[in-house]
Amino acid sequence: MLVTGSDILVPARRNKYGVPSFNTNNLEITQAIIRTAEKLRSPVMVQISEGARKYAGTEDLANIVADLAHRASIPVAIHLDHGSSYESCLSAIRAGFTSVMIDASHHDFEENVRETRRVVEAAHAMGVSVEAELGRLGGIEEHIVVDEKDAFLTDPEEAVRFVEQTGVDYLAIAIGTSHGAYKGKGRPYIDHARIEKIGSLMPELPLVAHGSSGVPKEIVERFRAAGGEIGEAAGIADEDLERASKVGISKVNVDTDLRLAFATAVREVLQQSPKEFDPRKILGPARDLMSEIVAHKIRVLGSEGQA
Ligand code: G3H
Ligand code: 13P
Ligand code: NA
Ligand code: ZN
Repeated sequence: MLVTGSDILVPARRNKYGVPSFNTNNLEITQAIIRTAEKLRSPVMVQISEGARKYAGTEDLANIVADLAHRASIPVAIHLDHGSSYESCLSAIRAGFTSVMIDASHHDFEENVRETRRVVEAAHAMGVSVEAELGRLGGIEEHIVVDEKDAFLTDPEEAVRFVEQTGVDYLAIAIGTSHGAYKGKGRPYIDHARIEKIGSLMPELPLVAHGSSGVPKEIVERFRAAGGEIGEAAGIADEDLERASKVGISKVNVDTDLRLAFATAVREVLQQSPKEFDPRKILGPARDLMSEIVAHKIRVLGSEGQA
């Protein structure tokens, strides 16, 4: 069933589990996400970025997701990932999104508040829930000094003021994660104390972690073995996500892992079967490998069996 982001994230926060929010760009990715979540009885969020809207067309992609969501027996939300403006959030809502992110985190605090509040007022009038972001995403070294961490990771007191002033439904915080396949050397450092602090100051508010792909070693090695080139890739450890989801991180954004799985499976088919040119034989294995990633994330976050 198609529901709002809050319908999924409020119970997740209350019952101390995380829900993955996967980026989609096409039919196969969407099927891997929703079919797997249904199999594991997990709520799930499907998110569409501005780039995805450009690539697939907002209506085409939103309609694919909405149709699968409507027919699924689990709660599914369609979320705008990193919405760039008020106008973009509103056009997404018109296209059927049930959750939008307004990302004004690159602006100063006051401007971020103003932009976010505008979106919250409009979205709430239409029954859609809203995510905003405070802080700057980026990998951090375990031993960097406190001042430097404070410079870009989310400040707990500021987060409280931001939520009070905007009325936002869930808040993305900077805690050491970063986008993409290169999140730092070895095991990227996650500021658990900061998550716990923000979580304890706002015990009802679902928190969001962007940049939460695990970049699994096995997939990276398969990608290389199939001719792919990738440097010193590193993702967020399962243990870190599991721990964070118990103390406030309710929405966990994952894109890179699905991209890697997709590209790896496609490379393997084309390498192993040079005579193959049936798109179904090429994209089917990609859908299967993405489904494994989806299942793994659901289990790590504890959302299996919650729907
Ligand atoms: O946060 C970014 C997501 O991975 C979406 O990426 O803007 O290339 O679609 P994209
Ligand atoms: P990853 O690059 O870690 O998959 O993060 C995706 C994301 O945060 C989308 O908003
Ligand atoms: Na988002
Ligand atoms: Zn993101």
